[in-house]
Amino acid sequence: MRPKLVLKDLLMLGFQKFLKSSSIHLKVQGDRTLSTGKNPVIIPVIDLEAIDKDPVKRRGIVDKVRDASETWGFFQVINHGIPAGVLEEMGAGVRRFFEQDIEMKKIFYTRDATKKFVYNSNFDLYTAPVANWRDTFFSYMAPYPPKPEELPEACRDTMMEFSKQVTSLGISLFGLLSEALGLKTDHLEKMDCAEGLALISHYYPACPEPELTLGTSKHSDNDFLTVLLQDQIGGLQMLHQDQWIDIPPVPGALVINIGDLMQLISNDRFKSVEHRVLANRIGPRISVACFFSTSFQPSSKLYGPIKELLSEDNPPVYRETTVNEYLSYFYDHGLDGTSPLTHFKL
Ligand code: OGA
Ligand code: NI
Repeated sequence: MRPKLVLKDLLMLGFQKFLKSSSIHLKVQGDRTLSTGKNPVIIPVIDLEAIDKDPVKRRGIVDKVRDASETWGFFQVINHGIPAGVLEEMGAGVRRFFEQDIEMKKIFYTRDATKKFVYNSNFDLYTAPVANWRDTFFSYMAPYPPKPEELPEACRDTMMEFSKQVTSLGISLFGLLSEALGLKTDHLEKMDCAEGLALISHYYPACPEPELTLGTSKHSDNDFLTVLLQDQIGGLQMLHQDQWIDIPPVPGALVINIGDLMQLISNDRFKSVEHRVLANRIGPRISVACFFSTSFQPSSKLYGPIKELLSEDNPPVYRETTVNEYLSYFYDHGLDGTSPLTHFKL
C-alpha cells in the first residue's frame, strides 16, 4: 500500500537530506531546527556490569541513569546480563515469522488488540494521519503469558526465553530508576511498573523511496519503560533540543527509554522523549520493543505523581489516571505527532 503523504513530513525529510549535504541549520515551518550533526551527539551508553557487585560502582551507575533519564530520556546499556545468543535468536525469530509463507501469517492477522498475538501493518491505520512503512506483531507476555501454542511456531520459544530475560533486566532497571529518584530500590517494582510486558516486534522492509515516508512516525512510548533491541541497520532517532539525533546500533547493547507513564509518576523529572524511525533503502530492519506496562489488563489502579517526590515547591503536574484510561486515549489518536501526556496535565 502506498502511504498517504503529509506535506510537512515531506518538507522535513527533504530538508533534512539537504541539510546533511550543506551542513547548516535552518528553521522549518517554525517547527524545529534541523541540524546536520556536524558534532554528532551521542546518547549515554551505560555499563551495568557492576550493579550487583560493588555498591560504590552501583552509585556511579545510578547517577548516570538519573542524568540520562532527566536530560535525554534515552540511553543504551551494555553488559546487561542478556546473553548475545538470546538477542540474536529473538531477531532471527522475528525475521522467520515475517518471511514465512503468507498463508501461515494470515492466521495471525487481526486488528483486535485484545488477541494474544496480533499481527498487522500500522496498528493506527484508521486513526493516524499517515501510514508507516512497517509491519508489526505484538503479544502481551506478562502478567498473563500466552500458552506456547497461542504463539506462532516461528518465534514461540525465542519469545518465551527473551521475555523471561527482559523481565529480569526490567526489574534491575526499575531498581536503578527508583534509587535515581531517591526512593527505595523496590519502590517502582512495588507500584507494579514491571508487572506487565508487551513484546512489539517490527519489520521495516527495504523502501524504494524512503524520503516519501517514515518507518515509524514521531511518538513517545505510552508505557513506564521500553527496552529496545535493534539490529545493525539504523534509522532510530530521538528529538533532543529540537534536533533529531541518531541512536546508533551498538552491537550487543539494548536501547532503554523512559515512557509517558514514568514521566507522569516522576512528576516530569524523567522525560518521555519523542522518537521516530526513518525508512531505508536497505532492509529489512528488525527491532523488538519491550513495553513495561499493564496495558489493557482491566485494573482500577490509579497512577499519579509519586507522593514522596512532591513538595510545596514541586506540586503535582498531572492528575491520577489508570493505565487503561491512558492507553484508550492513545489508541483513539494513534501516532498523530502529539503526546497524550498533555491531556492528563492538571
Ligand atoms: C516503538 C518504537 C523503535 C524501533 O515500538 O515504540 O519506537 O526501532 N520502535 O522500531
Ligand atoms: Ni517508541
